[in-house]
Amino acid sequence: MNQTKSRHKIAQMFDQIAVEYDRTNRYLSLGQDFRWRKSLKKYLPQKESLVVVDLACGTGNQIAAIDQPNIKFYGIDISKEMLKIAKKKLGDNDRIELMIGSALQIPLDDEVADAVTISFGIRNVSDPARCLMEILRVLKPGGRILILEFSIPQSNFVRFFSDFYVHKIVPWMGKKITKKQLPYTYLSDTIEEFYSGESFVQLMEDNGFIHTSQKTMNFGTVSLYIGEKPQHNR
Ligand SMILES: C[S@@+](CC[C@H](N)C(=O)[O-])C[C@H]1O[C@@H](n2cnc3c(N)ncnc32)[C@H](O)[C@@H]1O
Repeated sequence: MNQTKSRHKIAQMFDQIAVEYDRTNRYLSLGQDFRWRKSLKKYLPQKESLVVVDLACGTGNQIAAIDQPNIKFYGIDISKEMLKIAKKKLGDNDRIELMIGSALQIPLDDEVADAVTISFGIRNVSDPARCLMEILRVLKPGGRILILEFSIPQSNFVRFFSDFYVHKIVPWMGKKITKKQLPYTYLSDTIEEFYSGESFVQLMEDNGFIHTSQKTMNFGTVSLYIGEKPQHNR
């Protein structure tokens, strides 16, 4: 087990920044985060009614961005404090069930979901391959995976500026707003270390997804990874 990403430590870190999470996000993304999350909407399967599982749902921003009356949501996260804020934000709604649980052991039956979303979450799990296998398990055949995550831009010119932003501005601004340093150096480090672009698409394919693709946003610093569960599991 990757000790720096133990469930307990990560949950504790997000518990500590939960109250400031949304505000910090808005500042650090320069107001772009809602637009990135909203972009997932057009890739949801086109059906009369849908079941969508949002893993690492945090304060509920991904659900809020794509919510529509024909979707039943399950929002799952390991942080109690992040979920508390999600509950407040999303209100009392029979269509939205929020629960404590891990993306590595999703507390749902097999083949219940038309789509699984995970935004800025998979970077935090200790075993991304296992997480992908769990997602495959809960997806219906033909169901879709939509993963939003930071990525490393291809262009050296953009990379120069994004490295400066990620390694200097993010930790400084994060600390200024939350008075905590660790979560924001952790953010910078994990962006650098995590799979990006083709290597993540390959990981999805290695773990059983088909029709995979990557859509880049924000000059390649954010990517949406899309894939499907085969109709008949291979
Ligand atoms: C950067 S936040 C993203 C929250 C939300 N998806 C969003 O777009 O704002 C990462 C979230 O992942 C959650 N998380 C980390 N590891 C997890 C795991 N193994 N299972 C479920 N949630 C996890 C954290 O508690 C945190 O709420």
